Amino acid sequence: SDHAPQRHGGARVLVASNRGPVSYTVGENDALEVKRGGGGLVSGLSAIGPETDAVWVCAALSDGDREAVRRTGGALDPEDTGGQRVRMLGIDPDTHAAAYNGIANSVLWFVHHMLYQTPLEPAFGPEFRAQWAAFEAYNQAFAEGLAAEAAHGADVLVQDYHLVLVPGMLRELRPDLRIGHFSHTPWAPADYFRMLPDDVARQVLRGVLGADRAAFLTRRWADAFTACCDDLLGGTGATRIGVHGLGADADFLRERSHREDVDERMASLRGQIGGEDRKVVVRVDRTELSKNIVRGLHAYRLLLTDRPEWRGRVTHVAFAYPSRQDLAVYREYTAEVQRVADTINSEYGTPEWTPVVLHVKDDFARSLAAYRLADVALVNPIRDGMNLVAKEVPVVSDNGCALVLSREAGAYEELGEDALVVNPYDLGATAEALHEALTMPEDERAERTKRLAAAATSLPPAQWFLDQLEALRAI
Ligand code: G6P
Repeated sequence: SDHAPQRHGGARVLVASNRGPVSYTVGENDALEVKRGGGGLVSGLSAIGPETDAVWVCAALSDGDREAVRRTGGALDPEDTGGQRVRMLGIDPDTHAAAYNGIANSVLWFVHHMLYQTPLEPAFGPEFRAQWAAFEAYNQAFAEGLAAEAAHGADVLVQDYHLVLVPGMLRELRPDLRIGHFSHTPWAPADYFRMLPDDVARQVLRGVLGADRAAFLTRRWADAFTACCDDLLGGTGATRIGVHGLGADADFLRERSHREDVDERMASLRGQIGGEDRKVVVRVDRTELSKNIVRGLHAYRLLLTDRPEWRGRVTHVAFAYPSRQDLAVYREYTAEVQRVADTINSEYGTPEWTPVVLHVKDDFARSLAAYRLADVALVNPIRDGMNLVAKEVPVVSDNGCALVLSREAGAYEELGEDALVVNPYDLGATAEALHEALTMPEDERAERTKRLAAAATSLPPAQWFLDQLEALRAI
């Protein structure tokens, strides 16, 4: 897109992330069909449009996206984006794949979520080095895209692990800009981070430290970053460190969850659950290794094994939406989720009762429907930057919902008091917490839900974004 018309130009505020607010597919008659992007980052940033005239710079991720870039020069139609100004970068597909699949999702994501099975992985050889070069090129493309869009002295907020090298690269190109970096993931403990080759580990840290301010979702992740900098670089230099715990968007959720399509999905879910008095345990995730879906199913199975009184009286509604399917381990994990759900259903299911109702096709309206009718929400990640599901459920819930929450989710720092907190590796403890949640007296459940909703919405996305902007400008 070198010859793309620079239709935005001169932006005062810019945001950069790998995934943008929308993605395209080429449909019938070559028409482009648009879909909202998924994941916590997009949910958070989608609220910024009305608050600022920010330009959101993102990457073309699919063939449809690249076609949209070809047709528009990269400045997307605001009709498609809910009014948000978006500049999509057409990055060479092989370079993007090596950077996104090879480095961002297979190395940096694995390090920060501590997902490696270390006797075999990681092993950083020549393939890694080639992918790392692609990662540098991809970050450089973002730095150049931002440099071209930004007005003199503009504020640039760079998002997440995909773009850790951008702050340093952008500072080289445009020393006049104020640059922030925000991590939506955990940050690895120093002993784990040191698994990366030393030069790469330093490059990652120096990249982030190219920002005037590096911010995180919780104090825990910010401290881990500082510890890595102390360990490998002897400190964080002049870069300020901040914490902004992204909250749920109460106004949006309350309005959206009472539309007709959600009512329809509630009726259909009730049909699948059956029996009027059946309790409902809900989980909603990307099918993501760190979300711990398989252990969650095993814990539910243990509940049915150890406490037979629940058989026929509870249904586990589990939504596991496709994610990162280019990676073999994600495909295998997806298959394992399906297998364990099937096992439970054939073990305990009856003609009148399906113990696990599993859906794998992404449907936001159905997620909201499940939030509304849940008695219990299971949020048990191995490690999670924040986890917005834990924050959305109490806001949307119709009759109060008990929250079983992993202590390794960032949301634990804000919601820990009124959730039933679990060690995500402990199946027995998770099964016990499910039992406790299912038997929680209704008034207690309602009270807790109210407090959870208040804590979950204390920093709405628009405010979260404006706070970061203000903190950056104050430097
Ligand atoms: C997490 C990351 C986001 C990412 C999202 C969805 O929330 O922090 O940066 O966009 O997962 O993952 P994907 O690979 O589909 O963008």
